[in-house]
Amino acid sequence: MPREGAAADSMSFHQDKLPSRPEIFDFHGVSMTHYFTDNWENIQNFQARPDDILIATYPKAGTTWVSYILDLLYFGQTERQEVVPIYDRVPFLEIIISSYSGIYLKKLLNPCSASMLCSLHISTPLHTGKDLVDNLPTSPRLIKTHFPVQFVPKSFWEQNCRIIYVARNAKDNAVSYFHFDRMNNIQPEPGDWTDYVHRFMGGKVAFGSWYDHVNGWWKKKQTHSKLHYMFYEDLVEDTGREIDKLCCFLGLSRSDEEKKRVTDGVHFDNMKKDNMANYSTNSIMDFKISPFMRKGKVGDWKNHFSEAQSEQFDEDYEKKMTDVTLQFRSEI
Ligand code: A3P
Repeated sequence: MPREGAAADSMSFHQDKLPSRPEIFDFHGVSMTHYFTDNWENIQNFQARPDDILIATYPKAGTTWVSYILDLLYFGQTERQEVVPIYDRVPFLEIIISSYSGIYLKKLLNPCSASMLCSLHISTPLHTGKDLVDNLPTSPRLIKTHFPVQFVPKSFWEQNCRIIYVARNAKDNAVSYFHFDRMNNIQPEPGDWTDYVHRFMGGKVAFGSWYDHVNGWWKKKQTHSKLHYMFYEDLVEDTGREIDKLCCFLGLSRSDEEKKRVTDGVHFDNMKKDNMANYSTNSIMDFKISPFMRKGKVGDWKNHFSEAQSEQFDEDYEKKMTDVTLQFRSEI
């Protein structure tokens, strides 16, 4: 539910004037919506800094979880975590809602967030993910993207930035994305589950084919040594171990005590009740339909796929996922 007292936030709409759901269209061979392509030129010309850290995922693979882990590893538990939502601390680079939603968008930050950002000399209002990144007060800057690898602005490669890619097994990813599309008013209408599974298999969802996404980034790992490819299932299995690996990749030395604090802080139950992490301040989402922090489990697909759907999905999966070096676990 929207946070009490929060008049609006950087991605708020007047509830009575919600925009119509966007259409999917083909954009350079990938299914996209205008919310992620309208700022294309600016995004492609984005100037990365060598210490920028890019968190790249297919939607619903655990982006917020890893964003929060990195935010705590770098900046600890400060006042900022208590008043600035995660989507402002780790901005979503390619999102643009201002150009389309001038009459809908309240370009005001929630009061706490606004005063905090003002005290940090950030100009408000902020309209796009790129504006937010350009105005981030922190160093390094933590940046989120859902782009397939070929869409990533070239300066991230030129600057040899560290990139963390998080992948999640296809079936759970599809289920999570379905519920997200139901509750997020800037996502295309998901239709019913049966239709949705077919659209997911055909890559007709925002950011395109899951299969192309995870494979494209996996291949990039061969040539970009500063790419850490991690799996949602591993994080669920042993969050502490994955945080150790992240520290190693990032060259961070943190005491066992600090790492334990991070591990505990990012536990699902804690993030679910943390209004700065659970998206409850974001009124483009309808929490009456589904929470953002929904289940946080491996294997929830079993509650959604019929036996026939699962068989069909597996058959199609075998055809598309031919690289034996990339293996997912759909149960742990
Ligand atoms: P479910 O819908 O399966 O619950 P993203 O941040 O990429 O949008 O991913 C959201 C998914 O990650 C949701 O999955 C959400 O519940 C899950 N998630 C977020 N934080 C988590 C945590 N701390 N532990 C486990 N899962 C988490």
